[in-house]
Amino acid sequence: MKDFIVEHYNVIKALHVIAIISWMAAQLYLPRLFVYHADADKGSELSETLKIMERKLLRFIMNPAMIAAFIFGGLMIWGNPDLMHQPWMHVKLAAVLLLTAFHGACARWRKAFVADKNTHSAKFYRQINEIPTLLMIIIVIMVIVRPF
Ligand code: HEM
Repeated sequence: MKDFIVEHYNVIKALHVIAIISWMAAQLYLPRLFVYHADADKGSELSETLKIMERKLLRFIMNPAMIAAFIFGGLMIWGNPDLMHQPWMHVKLAAVLLLTAFHGACARWRKAFVADKNTHSAKFYRQINEIPTLLMIIIVIMVIVRPF
């Protein structure tokens, strides 16, 4: 299996980058939907439409993309375990864990909207929307520049 990974390393890396682009797109878009949802009247047509959009975004893009990012990233670590001794990879994976925690928080906020029990303001969602952006910047600098 390790030989197969090493032989197809660049294909796996390409699939990893495709997965993280999809994951990031959803992580940046879902909080934006929450911004509009927080200002929508409960039970309104807009609120019900946003519930459908949020469920489909999370279930059909965000969750599968996260799983694929972990699988292809994990395969590369399997094929090149020395990466785990690199300080930049430690910082990268720490930021990835925070990104995963943010994913979990989005899933919880979505459930609150489904139950018409959201307690956060549009301003709150506008502010937390910056978190995945900041984490993405840290992750990409770590994996491309490898500053330490
Ligand atoms: C989900 C868990 C993740 C794991 C386990 C993981 C692991 C890895 C590994 C092992 C590599 C190959 C490094 C090399 O061979 O030099 C890699 C490459 C890469 N990762 Fe991740 N990663 C994850 C998430 C992410 C995320 C969330 C992003 C961006 C937001 C990201 C961006 C990249 C990029 C751009 C590359 C290609 C770097 C290059 O061209 O050398 N990764 N990742």
